[in-house]
Amino acid sequence: MTLLSHLNWRYATKKYDPAKKVPQPVLDDILEAVSLAPSSNGYQPYDVLVVTNPAIREKLRAAAFNQPQVTDASHLVVFAAWDSITEDNLGKVFDRMAEVRGSSESLAERRKSALAGFAGKTAEQNFQFAAQQAFIGLGFGLAAAAELKVDATPMGGFDAKAFDDILGLKELGLRSVVIMTLGYRDASGDWLVGLKKVRRPKADMFIEVK
Ligand SMILES: Cc1cc2nc3c(=O)[nH]c(=O)nc-3n(C[C@H](O)[C@H](O)[C@H](O)COP(=O)(O)O)c2cc1C
Repeated sequence: MTLLSHLNWRYATKKYDPAKKVPQPVLDDILEAVSLAPSSNGYQPYDVLVVTNPAIREKLRAAAFNQPQVTDASHLVVFAAWDSITEDNLGKVFDRMAEVRGSSESLAERRKSALAGFAGKTAEQNFQFAAQQAFIGLGFGLAAAAELKVDATPMGGFDAKAFDDILGLKELGLRSVVIMTLGYRDASGDWLVGLKKVRRPKADMFIEVK
């Protein structure tokens, strides 16, 4: 099957079968795809929480307009961006770059100028930058799930502040951005499963600049 056929197969699943769990190796592959997503300068300025605890997921569901996917899917993945960009978090990325590729003067220079750049911006600006990167991770996760025939739902319909409180994200220097549920559809109870995909006509959406 081609990538496009997988992408046509996937849809934002509304109803999951709570009895069906995504096997750990399959979950690991989806998370690896998230980690392989590109990010600005390779900073990956977000963390990814995999929430399986049922009591916590009940609380999160209440903070997500009671959307049933939050509790019924096999796994709930929360993309949480760094609440600012500092020596503490970005420094570790540069340490990792040095570990994998070797340290160099140019890497040390890049580190210094990147940290100075982020220090000149507000925490909110830095968070917004980080949040944009998290969405790319979401996209890769959704595509990987489709390829593995795992149903998934990208979800922005939740109270981010409440999620942060429930998950203790402030203490971790994180803010929730977007979530993705993973599992297997309950086709009999899902109003969206049989409906055709709606996409804007290509002629409207794509503009050729010749
Ligand atoms: C950022 C974002 C937030 C979304 N929030 C929700 C949500 O809270 N609940 C939900 O059921 N679907 C949500 N969706 C799914 C979209 O409604 C869905 O992707 C879109 O209608 C296209 O349909 P398809 O994914 O089935 O092709 C969200 C999608 C994205 C990308």
